Amino acid sequence: MNTPMRVKMAADGPEVSRLAYGVWRLLNDPQGADVQRVLAKIQTCLDCGITTFDHADIYGGYGVEEVFGAALRANPGLRQRMELVTKCGIMLVNPARPGNRLKHYDYSRQHIVESVERSLRNLATDYLDVLLLHRPSPLLDPHEVAEALRSLVEQGKVRHVGVSNFTPAQFDMLASWLSVSLVTNQVELHPLRLEPFLDGTLDQCLQRRISPMAWSPLAGGRLMHGEGEAERRVRAVLVELGRKYGADLDQLLYAWLLRHPSRIIPVLGTNQLERITSAARALSLPLELQDWFAVWSASTGAEVP
Ligand SMILES: NC(=O)c1ccc[n+]([C@@H]2O[C@H](COP(=O)([O-])OP(=O)(O)OC[C@H]3O[C@@H](n4cnc5c(N)ncnc54)[C@H](OP(=O)(O)O)[C@@H]3O)[C@@H](O)[C@H]2O)c1
Repeated sequence: MNTPMRVKMAADGPEVSRLAYGVWRLLNDPQGADVQRVLAKIQTCLDCGITTFDHADIYGGYGVEEVFGAALRANPGLRQRMELVTKCGIMLVNPARPGNRLKHYDYSRQHIVESVERSLRNLATDYLDVLLLHRPSPLLDPHEVAEALRSLVEQGKVRHVGVSNFTPAQFDMLASWLSVSLVTNQVELHPLRLEPFLDGTLDQCLQRRISPMAWSPLAGGRLMHGEGEAERRVRAVLVELGRKYGADLDQLLYAWLLRHPSRIIPVLGTNQLERITSAARALSLPLELQDWFAVWSASTGAEVP
């Protein structure tokens, strides 16, 4: 059975595409990132049903949102055909932020609001579909965060909120303070990072009926060309499965995530248009149970207990 391309992130969350496209590497594209190239990438995504775009204020040294926004300005009709996710809270040492002496996190009400307003301007839009708090901070004050998010949602600047890289305990703590519900937790998830399967992160998503987003679904490309032992073992199994299913390694890795009952949303990072298009095949690759565990065991180097 095919995996549907649309998914509701949470009962009161947005409808998004089951594969999302992440723009972290947008400015590293060997073919450049001028308006035409970015438009081609957006169009390629939309053509294969990928309508959800994952941003962060910091991507490209605080530059990606503006480059993407320039493409939306050139073709304003595109905005209503997509969902925009962006993040806030990480403060980089960067010429664009001369006040940052060292890398740190800021979840003050003022920063959250200013960051969202800047993202809206950069992305040439008047609302975000989802705002994520990028990483947990030891100094995150849930009362202050709740105030900031409430006012942004009330003003219609943000439609839904979520978190990224939060532990289940951090998620529950924040959720208990908010007047809006958290619609996702975006975490690093792939066969070389199994912790979210084991530490309660995905169980919490199932319990709360929310879809997690999986960042770096190919381990940033390491699963394709890394030379570590686990990387080689997983790749060997994928090559075998590739023959069995007539599929590419990246398609199998997306399919491996899609097989999990929490309805994981893999966030693609490739800059290559053909790879974006071919990713959609993962939705019609229902991995057999034992093949799923073969990838797991290749990662751990042992059979399950
Ligand atoms: N929330 C967070 O803290 C966080 C952190 C990191 C990332 N993210 C999000 O996750 C998104 C994806 O992360 P990612 O870029 O690391 O994802 P990824 O899909 O794991 O890695 C993409 C990289 O793998 C390379 N690659 C090598 N072989 C490939 C193949 N056969 N098919 C496809 N790609 C191949 C790509 O190169 P080519 O371009 O040449 O294909 C690209 O450099 C980001 O854009 C961002 O939106 C979120």
